[in-house]
Amino acid sequence: MNIILIGFMASGKSSLGRYMATRTKRQVIDLDHEIEEKAQMSIPKIFETVGEKAFRDLESYVTKLCKNYHNTIVATGGGCILRKENRDALKQAGLVVWLNTSPENVQKYTAKRSNRPLLKGEKSLEEIESMMKAREEFYADASHLKIDVFKHNLEEIFEIIQ
Ligand code: S3P
Repeated sequence: MNIILIGFMASGKSSLGRYMATRTKRQVIDLDHEIEEKAQMSIPKIFETVGEKAFRDLESYVTKLCKNYHNTIVATGGGCILRKENRDALKQAGLVVWLNTSPENVQKYTAKRSNRPLLKGEKSLEEIESMMKAREEFYADASHLKIDVFKHNLEEIFEIIQ
């Protein structure tokens, strides 16, 4: 079965994906990376040149391909769950795990990085909190399982999902 990791930016989807892939000898596919391959451009460049709508269309395209994967760990982008069609596609493609992080951790892990267009410029805790709140219902709707990642280390999260 595929395991699909969803969650807000910097919730640890890619790190956990790589960790699980190593531990279980399965392949990991990062949907952000698939988008960049398809567009032959980095994500910031896609946002800058063709805009968020075109990025979301590409994201929907790669999300719908998940049903063709077998025994794969999939790390999604944080906004993958914004469209209902994507939430449905993910749920049909495997076990969807919501890595629920805290606004404090998001701020901490994104403070010095500029590769996320939606977090460009230093965001206040309140801004991050309100972005997370606005998406909460979508993560809940898309997932089979929710894990509060700030309560566990990687190994524990891995054990919960197994
Ligand atoms: C986004 C999350 C990013 C990336 C893009 C948009 C979002 O992925 O897809 O910058 O809307 O939350 P990560 O969650 O891997 O940072």
